[in-house]
Amino acid sequence: MLIVIEGIDGCGKTTIAELLKNILENKGYKVYLTKEPFRSDIKAIIKSIIEKKHDLNENFGKALSLLFAADRQIHQLEIKDKISKGFIVILDRYYHSSYTYQLLYKGVTLDFLEKINSSLLKPDYVFILDVPVDVAIERLMKRGITTEYERKDFLEKVRENYLKLKEILKEEKIFIINNNRNPEETIRDILSIIGIK
Ligand code: TYD
Repeated sequence: MLIVIEGIDGCGKTTIAELLKNILENKGYKVYLTKEPFRSDIKAIIKSIIEKKHDLNENFGKALSLLFAADRQIHQLEIKDKISKGFIVILDRYYHSSYTYQLLYKGVTLDFLEKINSSLLKPDYVFILDVPVDVAIERLMKRGITTEYERKDFLEKVRENYLKLKEILKEEKIFIINNNRNPEETIRDILSIIGIK
């Protein structure tokens, strides 16, 4: 089973993904938690591009989309291996992040993103953890804001894209989960959707 946890920066993905892993392991499942961007060297190139102020320029958008997609192709080998060995794989970000973040760049189209992200394993469930942007920013401030991607106006647009994602990826099981509450409540909803008591 492949479970994707998505949402804007500061929505609480990492906390929920780790909690979900622990709970499933306590129930006896083999769980593999992993995240994208996957490779630290590719992530470093990505960060150096994002940190330059670039006005959502087409070339940066396409370059970033391709870098994330390349990273993802490398990561697939590991994901497929774990799934074949019976693990539940929890993925903290997947191509859905490109459909929400990179789509905001001029010249980056859905068609382009589909082409460069085709041939990837489709997830069984996608959980979009939703919180108001102000709540996310407050959480990020506590950690120290680090990139261009963590600005309020940008995150508002990313959040809008997440809320529309179900209409774009119609064949996928995408669930928007309120994460502006106690993490245990979010986990309870996720477990009930995936049918694990
Ligand atoms: P993030 O998971 O926030 O890393 P960290 O925990 O180290 O901050 O991911 C880094 C950023 O990359 C985040 O702002 C979202 C962005 N991102 C994309 O724009 N597109 C993608 O395809 C992926 C996987 C991430």
